[in-house]
Amino acid sequence: MKLLKLIKRYIKYLARAKTKYNIHSPFVYDLITEVMEDKTDYPVYSKVRELKRSLLRNSNPLETIDFGAGATALPYSTKIRKIKDIAKQTEQPDKIAYLLFRIVKHFKPDTILELGTSLGISSIYFSDASPQGKITTIEGCASVASEAQNNFNKLRLKNIKVLIGNFDAILPKYLKKSNNLDFVFFDGNHRKEPTLKYFNACLLKANENSIFVFDDIHWSEGMEEAWETIKKNQKVTVTIDLFYMGIVFFKKDISKQDIILKLKL
Ligand SMILES: C[S@@+](CC[C@H](N)C(=O)[O-])C[C@H]1O[C@@H](n2cnc3c(N)ncnc32)[C@H](O)[C@@H]1O
Repeated sequence: MKLLKLIKRYIKYLARAKTKYNIHSPFVYDLITEVMEDKTDYPVYSKVRELKRSLLRNSNPLETIDFGAGATALPYSTKIRKIKDIAKQTEQPDKIAYLLFRIVKHFKPDTILELGTSLGISSIYFSDASPQGKITTIEGCASVASEAQNNFNKLRLKNIKVLIGNFDAILPKYLKKSNNLDFVFFDGNHRKEPTLKYFNACLLKANENSIFVFDDIHWSEGMEEAWETIKKNQKVTVTIDLFYMGIVFFKKDISKQDIILKLKL
């Protein structure tokens, strides 16, 4: 049933989506041609593919907290899961991860925040894309966060800091200490209210060059409603809906536009 609904949402997206030939904004057109369609085989791609292969073969068990339902009830329920199963469940298609990498590489944000570390794959891309950047990634499950840290150590990545705990508790503390957020990847707790709560909290530290990326904006009705609310926010100027993720810009020198984009990756 869930799959059927997702297919219906995808068909609706396809019916409304434009290609680059219908885009009038030079900013968005350049973003598509220079970044989104960049076919360079960057060295980090094969490095991460190799790491993913080893994670997908790793049968070591971890005691994990189940954040599937948002983990609002204390005490959190725990589950023994093999690393390979976590890798399989949280893995993003390579082409989508590569796109995220290229966006970060292009804009070179200094301060990067990620909600949802899992085994650290997207953080690794961010670290490679923005070696001068300061990356903070938040993960609620300590054992999974520790595996992510192992992966960062293996690759000798020094600019990623992992914060462990529920976003609800950690994010406000993190934001209190940070002045600016240049790039935020919202990739955990994909429900309407939490997504909007995290968005509004991060918005207070956004600047006109900030970029927010939301994963799974069409995953559920709630996430679609959250996306519609985000698009309407007065500070938001350009949004790009790629179905599997939504990208938000706050640029001031550009007219408001919400683009639904069909992209051949
Ligand atoms: C989709 S995975 C992240 C994948 C990762 N960004 C990547 O692409 O490699 C989402 C992660 O968010 C964590 N998570 C979900 N809800 C959370 C919450 N409320 N607080 C802290 N962590 C949470 C889960 O434990 C899970 O590891």
